[in-house]
Amino acid sequence: MTSTIGDLERKQGTTWMQEIVDLINQNGDVKMCKRAPVYERIPFLELFEDEGPPGIELIEKMASPRVIKTHLPIQLVPKSFWEQDCKTIVVARNAKDNLVSYFHFHRMDNTMPEPGDWLEFFQKFLHGQVSWGSWYDHVKGWWEAKIKHRILFLFFEDIKENPRREILKVAEFMEKVLEEDVIEKIVHLSSFKVMKDNPMANYTTLPKHIMNQNISRFMRKGEVGDWKNHFTVSQNEDFDEHYERQMGHSSLKFRNVL
Ligand code: A3P
Repeated sequence: MTSTIGDLERKQGTTWMQEIVDLINQNGDVKMCKRAPVYERIPFLELFEDEGPPGIELIEKMASPRVIKTHLPIQLVPKSFWEQDCKTIVVARNAKDNLVSYFHFHRMDNTMPEPGDWLEFFQKFLHGQVSWGSWYDHVKGWWEAKIKHRILFLFFEDIKENPRREILKVAEFMEKVLEEDVIEKIVHLSSFKVMKDNPMANYTTLPKHIMNQNISRFMRKGEVGDWKNHFTVSQNEDFDEHYERQMGHSSLKFRNVL
């Protein structure tokens, strides 16, 4: 049987998609989706930390079909995924909101490197000097790979605009037929409002020395366009110029960027 991997980039809506995929797999059963924290229900392939089992150990214990999270760039995904013809769901988020969300994540997650101040992090992000590397290379890599592999490429902004429409795309990709009431339930249970108060989705099950949610919540704002509250006019100009050089020739187009 084929496994399914949810490959999604950091701070682009990974947890959101994990919850949606699990809700689809469990046919909207809220109790089942609260059986364990999201990071145990859908383990993180490359996770290797001092505390807790490595992601790979949890994955090895799972029954097929497995759902796995990874932030790996396409070139580092194990070849076996492609040999097994795994399905992949990618969620991409516009770079500016991604930068803002990643900055706040660095502030509260003690396993991440020190972000420095906003100005410093801004520069690091532009030059790909952040964990899991360049946002530009990452999204372009996955975008191009969808020609060859079974990849469903979704946008954070589209899910925000019309969650029902995007959830139905995911269900179809997973070859699941959902009853109308189940679809409604999934839309509700995967909303920001519900997920932010769900301990099995909001990472409050992790101790403070790993994630300090007093500094910034994992479920921080969940909005499109928060970059406007962070970028100065001149940062925005610099960003746009840099963005155009990196993305100008790509057929991958994001909304709410320029
Ligand atoms: P913000 O920091 O902008 O709030 P990831 O899971 O890939 O690390 O992404 C985390 C980002 O997705 C955070 O963004 C978080 O709030 C947002 N997010 C998580 N669940 C969401 C939901 N149901 N609706 C909207 N945004 C959500």
